[in-house]
Amino acid sequence: MNINPIQLFDAASSTFTYILSAPGDSAAVIIDPVDHHWRRDLDHLKRLGLDLAYILETHAHADHVTSAGRLRDLTGAKAAVPSGCGIAPAEVQLADGDVIRFGNGEQILVLHTPGHTAGSMSYVWRGNVFTGDTLLIDGCGRTDFQSGSAEDLYDSAMNKLFVLPDATRVWPAHDYKGQSVSTIGWEKRHNARLANRSKQEFVQLMAALDLPRPKLMDIAVPANQNLGLPHGG
Ligand code: FE2
Repeated sequence: MNINPIQLFDAASSTFTYILSAPGDSAAVIIDPVDHHWRRDLDHLKRLGLDLAYILETHAHADHVTSAGRLRDLTGAKAAVPSGCGIAPAEVQLADGDVIRFGNGEQILVLHTPGHTAGSMSYVWRGNVFTGDTLLIDGCGRTDFQSGSAEDLYDSAMNKLFVLPDATRVWPAHDYKGQSVSTIGWEKRHNARLANRSKQEFVQLMAALDLPRPKLMDIAVPANQNLGLPHGG
């Protein structure tokens, strides 16, 4: 059965956080929680009677700080992160093809989708794919810093994401235009950067973007590699 996640938003960084839980099951997983929303997120879990099993990160973010470490310490959930993102304190280091099991037989398939960062992962659960900054709605994450690669992003989109069933719902890590969900079929046909472009055309397009450096980058990346906890703590 297809089930939608609960989608939560951080207006300061336009970041989406997701809570995954199946009906009748008390176990939950949270993806990409944001530092100053830790109380909001715990309140949602409490309201819904959910116990957190895992905290997942799609990558080491450059634009906001995670609350993964705090949520882990407060709930006893395990932090599960991409093995290629340098997030050493997480107890589960994920590789391509891993399956995260929680609750009453729930399974999340781990897909390595490099490009925005070398370690970036996407997560597939019950007809949904959580794409981090690899695939956004009508866009994609930048590839010009933090081990990014436009070539890798193109390959991840074409060979890992666009091969999922067309009806798979796409839940990105960010949206800056008020959109909340898309589908693989829609993005395959209409994504402004990826649809109907060769790899070479895509690489040229990404190289010409000339984006400003994220304001929080020097703080956020090292903080996120420590699950958002103070260093030494
Ligand atoms: Fe990012």
